[in-house]
This record gives sequence, structure tokens and C-alpha cells, in this order.
Amino acid sequence: MGDRQTERDHEATRDEPVPAPVLAILGAGVMGETVLSGLIRAGWDASRIVATDRRPERQTELTERYGIAMLENHEAAARADTVIVVVKPQDMPELLTEIAGDLRPGTLVVSLAAGVDTVSIEGRLGDGIPVVRVMPNTPALVDEGMAAISSGTHTTQAHLDHVAQILSATGRVVTVPERYQDAVTAISGTGPAYLFFVVEAMIEAGVHLGLPRDVSTELVVQTMLGSALMLRETGEHPTVLRERVTSPGGTTAAAVKVLEEHKVRAAFLGAMEAARDRSRDLAAAARPPAAAPPRDGVKR
Ligand SMILES: NC(=O)c1ccc[n+]([C@@H]2O[C@H](COP(=O)([O-])OP(=O)(O)OC[C@H]3O[C@@H](n4cnc5c(N)ncnc54)[C@H](OP(=O)(O)O)[C@@H]3O)[C@@H](O)[C@H]2O)c1
Repeated sequence: MGDRQTERDHEATRDEPVPAPVLAILGAGVMGETVLSGLIRAGWDASRIVATDRRPERQTELTERYGIAMLENHEAAARADTVIVVVKPQDMPELLTEIAGDLRPGTLVVSLAAGVDTVSIEGRLGDGIPVVRVMPNTPALVDEGMAAISSGTHTTQAHLDHVAQILSATGRVVTVPERYQDAVTAISGTGPAYLFFVVEAMIEAGVHLGLPRDVSTELVVQTMLGSALMLRETGEHPTVLRERVTSPGGTTAAAVKVLEEHKVRAAFLGAMEAARDRSRDLAAAARPPAAAPPRDGVKR
């Protein structure tokens, strides 16, 4: 009888559906919605995603748009197997402190906050919580994002693979040691803004040369897209591609000479150093006083 009861218990355990893993997005603003919409486009079931936001009207909007449940932070943190934190860096300490007691052992925390290092996140979450830091960018909105991910103290390769799989819904993913994240922030994190700046300048130049604004805009945007695709699809170095269209004494040579005279290359270097330094300052400000600087190993 005892044996049969044990058998029945085993049957019952075998028949119980294994709950599907749940992913929570805490702080569903611009970047949070970018990740969310990418997952939905990639075929994730809305029932596997929950999210939070401070404003009730935003909560209603996201439920209507994606059919996901909007919860309180502590509920979402307690239910999820993977928690993606996407609030502004200055809102991170309060949010992490709020959810620290609700995370189940083994829950993976993924932070998309610029300049907040894994050591400071771990310091606020308590012992043993695996943390992955991500620097995304906004072209993820059109599934052409570039995300760089780094491991924290308790992260395994399986955690990194899991995060890469989630983020590949919205573009490409590279894994880098965390000490590179300030440089990544300066290059791909804020990179779209520099390219928008260049596009803006070229459109204005087209108008200055007498083109209608809409024509100038179409010429520049398609040229930017075509050039980016050429770089990616040919795999050629940009210098090679540029030299191919620069005839001696021609129009491109005349234009590049002016760019060099204005030290545009040096200006880009200086601009990206400034962005890298700002990212470092933000990281220092977000770090709890006792926390050590970030490490960059991956536990395998
Ligand atoms: N946008 C980008 O291009 C980009 C690129 C790379 C990295 N990131 C990183 O992504 C993070 C989010 O940036 P974002 O541009 O998406 O900012 P955002 O649009 O302001 O989104 C953050 C959202 O989180 C909400 N929020 C703040 N504290 C909260 C809390 N305690 N509980 C629940 N919700 C809370 C905010 O509500 P309120 O509106 O009420 O404040 C807002 O809706 C930042 O850390 C940023 O560094 C962004």
C-alpha cells in the first residue's frame, strides 16, 4: 500500500506541468519596451513576460499593446526566473533595495543601466545572486541593436548564453570583460546619437547646396543605410571602401581634405573619450561606498 502510494505520488509529480520560465522587465520605459517588443516580435508568449512601471497610464498602455501582466516590483521579482532591470542609473539603488528580499535563489538579474557596475548591483542584492550587465542601443527598436554583455561575480557561461539568447531577439550580442563597458557605452551605447548628428549635418548641407529638405533627407538616410550594409556584408575595412570611391583630384578627395583640415577624426576621438569618462563617473557615483572596482572574469 505504502509502495503504491509512493508510485501514485511519483505519477502525480510526473503529470504536473512544469511552470514556464518567467521573465520580468522592471521599468518599462523606452529601453524596457524596446526589449519587450523585440521578444514579442520574436515569438515569446506574452504569458511568459511580466513588467512593471511607476505610472498607471503606462501600465495600462503596455497591457493593451502587448497583452502582458503589469505587476508591482516585488511581485514581478518574486515570480521571475530572469529579472531585467531597465530604470535610469539614479533609480537603480532604490529599485534594487526594494526587490532584494523578493528574488528567489538562482534568479538571474540583468541590468541595462548605463555606468552601473555589477559589483554595486551585487552589493545591493545580497549574496550569490548572478548579475549580467548589458549595454544595449536603440536600433534594437528595429531589430538591429548592438548589445555588449558582461558577467558579474556569480555568473556562469550558461547565464551569459541565456542573456545573449534573449537579446538576440533585437539584434547582435557580444560578450566583453566588464572593464570594457565604459568604452562600449561610448561607442555603441551612445553611437546612434553621433550617427544621427552626422546625418543631421549632411541633410543641412544638402539644403545649403539647394536641395529640397525631403530630397536631401532621403539621399542621406539611404546613403547611411547602404554604407552600413556594405560594411557589414563585404567585411571590408572602411578605409578600403573609402579609398575605392576616392579618385585622385576628385570630389571625394576634396571633401575628405576639408574634414581632415577640421580635425573631424580627432574630434570623434575626443568626443568618445568624453563619453567614456562620463560613464566612469556615473559608475563611481552609483557604487556603494564599500564596493570594490569591477572584476572581469567569467566563472565557468
Ligand atoms: N534609451 C537608450 O538609448 C539607452 C541606451 C543604453 C542604455 N540605456 C539604459 O536603459 C535604462 C533605461 O533608460 P530609458 O531611456 O528606457 O529610460 P526611461 O524611458 O525613463 O525608462 C525607465 C522607466 O522606468 C520607470 N521607473 C523608474 N523607477 C522605477 C521603479 N522603482 N519601479 C518601476 N518603474 C520605475 C520610469 O518611470 P518614470 O517615467 O515615472 O520615471 C520609466 O518609465 C537606463 O539605465 C539607461 O542607461 C538606455
